[in-house]
Amino acid sequence: MTRNNLKIIKLNPFMVRILVGKTTEVMPGQMKKVLVDENEVVVINIDGNYFAINDTCSHAGGSLSEGKLDGHTITCDWHGAQFECRSGKLIKFPVEINDLRSYDVVIESDSIFVET
Ligand code: FES
Repeated sequence: MTRNNLKIIKLNPFMVRILVGKTTEVMPGQMKKVLVDENEVVVINIDGNYFAINDTCSHAGGSLSEGKLDGHTITCDWHGAQFECRSGKLIKFPVEINDLRSYDVVIESDSIFVET
């Protein structure tokens, strides 16, 4: 099935797998913002392992895909909040802000799918 030109595979009544791109579009050390349902999500490639978390920083809405990736840490460009890119958990910020939602990523052949 497709929705808004996205390839969507229904896994069960509560979960779908959405095609978000090709592995060649997110090389090791790179990030790419994609749309998952109506949420902006950043897909991250670390040494050939793919992760996905919400792209919108929980502090004030900065786009994490425009931030800096260092190991498994993404730093928001706006005010420096740091998040763990596998879990979406906040690592460091002067005040308490929410963790980011993380998503399961599945690679099939050269396609990247995010499950939600
Ligand atoms: S918007 Fe990301 S740290 Fe402020």
